Amino acid sequence: MPPADALCSLCNSNSESYDQMHHMEHLIKQYSRSVPYTPGPHRTRPPTSSVLLTGSTGNVGSDFLALLLSDPNVTRIYALNRHSPDGPAPMRVAAQFRTKGLDVSALNSKKLVFIEGDTAKHELGLESNLYSEVSNKMAILIIS
Ligand SMILES: NC(=O)c1ccc[n+]([C@@H]2O[C@H](COP(=O)([O-])OP(=O)(O)OC[C@H]3O[C@@H](n4cnc5c(N)ncnc54)[C@H](OP(=O)(O)O)[C@@H]3O)[C@@H](O)[C@H]2O)c1
Repeated sequence: MPPADALCSLCNSNSESYDQMHHMEHLIKQYSRSVPYTPGPHRTRPPTSSVLLTGSTGNVGSDFLALLLSDPNVTRIYALNRHSPDGPAPMRVAAQFRTKGLDVSALNSKKLVFIEGDTAKHELGLESNLYSEVSNKMAILIIS
């Protein structure tokens, strides 16, 4: 197909999908008018919060850790990691950050506290004072 014809058919197919999109929007407006709107419960996060994060040495958990470190509403992050022969958790997390191109310097944040535990153990393998604090006050993210 010559280039001009190819362009023309592309324009036509785009205008077709544009029409379909408008038709869909019209249908949504038409049929949602009679659907009553009930707002859900208003959920707001407290202005400051503490988070217990597991899995920060891993792929998904390290991304979460980077997000939490950059969130000014999060004032304390307890990063729970298992004991490992591969080295201390801060070192393993830093290696993961480097591998993923995340900001390693953010790990120097004072709001980050590394703790040793295990989600497979009773009360996350934490000593009872810390476990009480965690279960009463914190948001918990388990990424394992
Ligand atoms: N990666 C993805 O694209 C993807 C997509 C959808 C769902 N998921 C799910 O998300 C979860 C995490 O995936 P991932 O790719 O980040 O895995 P990963 O890189 O293997 O990381 C797993 C993390 O969990 C920690 N962990 C495992 N068992 C634990 C325990 N008993 N107590 C405390 N920490 C424990 C590991 O820490 P240590 O070994 O250092 O202790 C590690 O930091 C998995 O359940 C996976 O199925 C992942």
